[in-house]
Amino acid sequence: MKPPQIEKGSKFPTEFALGSFSHRDVAVIRKITRESLGENYPPSLFIDINGWWPDGFIVVRGEDAIIAFIAGVVSAPRQARVLMLAVRKDYRNRGIGSALMAEFTKRCIARGITSIELEVRKSNAGAIKFYNRLGYSIRHLLPRFYTDKEDGYKMYKDIR
Ligand SMILES: CC(C)(COP(=O)(O)OP(=O)(O)OC[C@H]1O[C@@H](n2cnc3c(N)ncnc32)[C@H](O)[C@@H]1OP(=O)(O)O)[C@@H](O)C(=O)NCCC(=O)NCCS
Repeated sequence: MKPPQIEKGSKFPTEFALGSFSHRDVAVIRKITRESLGENYPPSLFIDINGWWPDGFIVVRGEDAIIAFIAGVVSAPRQARVLMLAVRKDYRNRGIGSALMAEFTKRCIARGITSIELEVRKSNAGAIKFYNRLGYSIRHLLPRFYTDKEDGYKMYKDIR
């Protein structure tokens, strides 16, 4: 099946395409997760997340390899949660992260979801600014949320 293309007029570069996660992608997705999020999750985690809601796991394929992905789940009857979002360093600031969030939000709306939540490290000022620009706001502090005990913020957006 041909992966869906980004809508015309979006800033998303045309040489990249959105696609679904496949089990063959686990190694490269784990590498991006290690490099961009500093987390070394087991392969089974990605397979489980994809199994919970396949539409919520979206990858961006460049010419040779995956360059970015978003993985989200349905966390309550009308709420989704972004578990991971990462764009490989060389491909940042080109609109790919925003395009992934836009496509994820579109799929949430199609599923009747009315709000999206996510967590971000307190020190990750760039990501907090990125999410603020997309309409997310900080709900509350998550003390010692991460495995290395760093605090996080819960961020939230109403998408009705
Ligand atoms: C956060 C992250 C996903 C953003 O992805 P990205 O592809 O760089 O995001 P975008 O390009 O859509 O937006 C980033 C900036 O580029 C700008 N931008 C968007 N499209 C652009 C384009 N075509 N050309 C130049 N700049 C552009 C945006 O205005 C935005 O600026 P901002 O600093 O005001 O927010 C990415 O930096 C990343 O993977 N970081 C490491 C992992 C991480 O922190 N993930 C989130 C954890 S919760």
